[in-house]
Amino acid sequence: MSDLTPYLKSRCKIVDQALGKYLPTARTRPATVHDAMRYSIFAGGKRLRPILCLAAAEACDGNYEDALAPASAVECIHTYSLIHDDLPCMDDDDLRRGKPTSHVKYGEGIAVLAGDALLTIAFEILAKTPAAKRYDVGTYVTELANCAGSRHLIGGQVLDLEGEGSDVLLSPTQLDYIHKSKTAALLTSSIRLGAMTANATPKKLEAISIYGQSLGLAFQVIDDILDVTSTSEKLGKSAGKDEATNKSTYPALFGLEKSRRKAAQLTAKAHDALKPFGKKAQRMHEIADYLLDRDY
Ligand code: IPE
Ligand code: IPE
Ligand code: MG
Ligand code: MG
Ligand code: MG
Repeated sequence: MSDLTPYLKSRCKIVDQALGKYLPTARTRPATVHDAMRYSIFAGGKRLRPILCLAAAEACDGNYEDALAPASAVECIHTYSLIHDDLPCMDDDDLRRGKPTSHVKYGEGIAVLAGDALLTIAFEILAKTPAAKRYDVGTYVTELANCAGSRHLIGGQVLDLEGEGSDVLLSPTQLDYIHKSKTAALLTSSIRLGAMTANATPKKLEAISIYGQSLGLAFQVIDDILDVTSTSEKLGKSAGKDEATNKSTYPALFGLEKSRRKAAQLTAKAHDALKPFGKKAQRMHEIADYLLDRDY
């Protein structure tokens, strides 16, 4: 067991406690939607984005407690995006985080609404973040709205959807754009928000953003690789889906070997970007290596 495992576990627990506090109880009226929100949130995700948010705050000399609200907010956005990503009109998946997807358990209508509610509450939670000297609450809200919106996360999902089922693969530039938008943007903003709560200097914010963009892109390349090489059991979501739906992915365009090399290059770039942080970024280095080697 690496040194990182207990750290990740304890950070997961801290994030879960914060989410448990911020989300309405499962019995809050109307109970169906609150139960569905909690079902997906607590189904067992890796909590990568919130953990990175907390780690970024610490790398910038802040404390993780100030980053708990944005950390919870980004996990709500991420989970909403997964609920909607799994819908029959999108990727049509039955399994997520090792459990039946929201629409399988609650029906499509409630799944759509639980996603909407998680998206909305993310901003209510984010607004609780203490302002830093350089960054006010409006800056936090703009950051999250921008990365989750139609120019980034949603935009990437649109192009992903439009590109599927075609005999012609997308170009590498188009694929890069999709991955940066649908995955790397939220991951980068999770890190930026953590750094902002620690009042990061513009220079440090820029450096940590480069880490986020490189790590975020590597993360989706590896997600694409695992879809080919892993099993549904291991992933907790259905493997082999991308090929079955003719998705343009890194392995589809470049093959597994080249995709692995690309992920390694991006991870090296992420490490490089952390130079200005010295030892303070130790955990962020470790997380980058862990994500490159992950098997789920
Ligand atoms: C899956 O994200 C969707 C992508 C953006 C690739 P994660 O692999 O972080 O999913 P969870 O949160 O651990 O379930
Ligand atoms: C999901 O990408 C990206 C978002 C939800 C924004 P994928 O469709 O590749 O994610 P998985 O493989 O279903 O987790
Ligand atoms: Mg998808
Ligand atoms: Mg999917
Ligand atoms: Mg995938």
